[in-house]
Amino acid sequence: MDRSQIIIRNAHTNNLKNIDIKIPKHKLVVFTGVSAAGKSSLLFDTIYTEAQRQLVETFSTFART
Ligand SMILES: Nc1ncnc2c1ncn2[C@@H]1O[C@H](COP(=O)(O)OP(=O)(O)OP(=O)(O)O)[C@@H](O)[C@H]1O
Ligand SMILES: [Mg+2]
Repeated sequence: MDRSQIIIRNAHTNNLKNIDIKIPKHKLVVFTGVSAAGKSSLLFDTIYTEAQRQLVETFSTFART
């Protein structure tokens, strides 16, 4: 599995229209778009959730519980 980037498929929160995106880690990444395009939705609903999941994956079984 490629751990150098976060891979999002079919993001469709709020106004997002099933977008696929690969976000490199350890890089400065910028999203632009008109107001209400879905930038904040992509960040807070999708990327944040996936980043948190990947973080927890690095914990030991003991730490997870
Ligand atoms: N909790 C919510 N429930 C319903 N609709 C929402 C919710 N949050 C955002 N939306 C709608 O989803 C669309 C995308 O909103 P979002 O805040 O992601 O856009 P944005 O690209 O960050 O805009 P801006 O540049 O104004 O910050 C908008 O039409 C918004 O009204
Ligand atoms: Mg926003």
